[in-house]
Amino acid sequence: FKLLLDTADVAKIAEINEYLPVAGVTTNPSIMAGSGKGVNYVLPAIVEVLGEDALLFVQALSTTVDGIIEEANKLVALPYNIVVKIPATPIGLAAMKRLQPTDIRTLATAIYTVQQGFFAAINGADYMSPYLNRIDTLNNDGVGVCAEIQHLLNQHELSTILTPASFKSNQQVMDVLATGCGAITLPVDVIEQMVNFPAVQPAVERFNKDWSAAFGDKLSYN
Ligand code: E4P
Repeated sequence: FKLLLDTADVAKIAEINEYLPVAGVTTNPSIMAGSGKGVNYVLPAIVEVLGEDALLFVQALSTTVDGIIEEANKLVALPYNIVVKIPATPIGLAAMKRLQPTDIRTLATAIYTVQQGFFAAINGADYMSPYLNRIDTLNNDGVGVCAEIQHLLNQHELSTILTPASFKSNQQVMDVLATGCGAITLPVDVIEQMVNFPAVQPAVERFNKDWSAAFGDKLSYN
C-alpha cells in the first residue's frame, strides 16, 4: 500500500515522514501555484526529504495530445522518479493510449466517473485518482465510485493502482480504504486530523502523571 501526500509543503512532508511511511507526493497545478514555487524548486526539496526513490506525481499542462506527450517526455527526463498526471479527458485518454507502450508512467487524474476510470485503465494508466470530495460535493457518492472502479479493475484484471484523491475528512478516508485501493493521497490537514484524535494525548498524559506520582522521574526500566 502506498501512502502519498497531496501537498508541495516541504516542511510538512518532512514532519509527516517522521511518523508515517510516505511513498511520495502528488501535486497539481493549483497546489504548485499555491506554494508559489515551481517544480525546479519543489522537486529537489522533496527528494532531499524523502529520498531519490520517492514517487513524484507532476501534472501535464498541455491541452493537445502531442503537447502532453512532449511534456511527459520532458518531465521524465528530469532526474527524479516522476509519474506524469494526465487529466482523463478525451485528449488526456489519447495521450495515455500513446504512452502505454512506453516506459513513461501515468496517473489518470480528474476522475469523476466510473467510466472515465475504466477507460483510463484500459489505456494503461499506472495509477488513477478519483476526486472523492469533489464527487461528494456534486451530490454523488465518491466512495461508491471508487468501490465500483476497484471492482472493475479486479474483475477485468487491470493493473492500474486506484489512488483516491481530494479528501476533506477522516471518515472519507476510512470509507475509501475499505474499497481495497492500492494507494491514497492525503492532504496535510486530513492526516493531522487522523493522528490527533483528541482523547489520545490526555490518556498518555494521565499514564505519565500516575507513574510519576508513584515513582518520580524514574523510567520504566529503572
Ligand atoms: C490530486 O493531487 C488532486 O489533484 C487533488 O487531490 C484534488 O484535491 P482538491 O479537490 O482538494 O482540490
